[in-house]
Amino acid sequence: MFIIQNSKYLDFLSKLGIGGAHPGGINLTKEIFKRENINRNSHILDVGCGTGQTAAYLANRYGAKVTGIDNNPTMVAKAEKRLKKNRLPVKIIQCSVEEIPLPDNHFDFITSESVLSFVDKPRALKEIFRLLKNDGRFIAIEQTLNQQLQDIEENEIKQFYGFNSLTTEKDWIALLKQAGFEHIRIQKNTSIDSEPDFLYSDDIEPELHEIMDKHFDLVLKYKEKLGFRIYSCTK
Ligand SMILES: C[S@@+](CC[C@H](N)C(=O)[O-])C[C@H]1O[C@@H](n2cnc3c(N)ncnc32)[C@H](O)[C@@H]1O
Repeated sequence: MFIIQNSKYLDFLSKLGIGGAHPGGINLTKEIFKRENINRNSHILDVGCGTGQTAAYLANRYGAKVTGIDNNPTMVAKAEKRLKKNRLPVKIIQCSVEEIPLPDNHFDFITSESVLSFVDKPRALKEIFRLLKNDGRFIAIEQTLNQQLQDIEENEIKQFYGFNSLTTEKDWIALLKQAGFEHIRIQKNTSIDSEPDFLYSDDIEPELHEIMDKHFDLVLKYKEKLGFRIYSCTK
């Protein structure tokens, strides 16, 4: 059973097939995982894997055993296409991060890259915690409020992106701790960036271009107030 959010922004991302749809993109992902001890025996889960760019990278670079999950069928189809084209043995499952049909204590690393703001965070974090091995690490690159917003501003962002809620660094720490995570490390202000890649659908409605314009307007409007952090923690 999976739920698809009513987010035109996510429709837009999936139709354009944007890979690296998180702050810093694939170059930040590479930088983060370079610091970890990953090898062919590592089991890695990418929740909200989108078009599978990170999953493909981790499988290709480290030969790791990678699984990706996403609840959007267009994203899942594009991830599968990417992995097939690159002959990478990554397993992609269409399901919600709030309910993942995989066994407890299975993964050495779990990553979420710009995913958790769209979902029920306590449920998703509980699920991630369940799937992580006892000495495993959870690494999240997630939207984070730099300061509290006025209600009108918060509603504008939540409605456009279909965010479940907006979260400050303090809120994230509380949520992670509540789920059971320990040794929480936080990194911010990285200047790393990347060009996204695209796996376009044939049926891109003109309306989706307006969504892209609105997205860039909001990015500019809230650039000081809405940022991101890299959260890294253990079980
Ligand atoms: C901003 S995109 C990021 C995609 C990918 N992580 C990346 O960096 O390119 C958010 C992704 O989260 C997925 N997503 C949203 N809600 C989800 C849920 N409840 N369960 C699983 N995936 C979800 C969307 O379908 C989308 O692929």
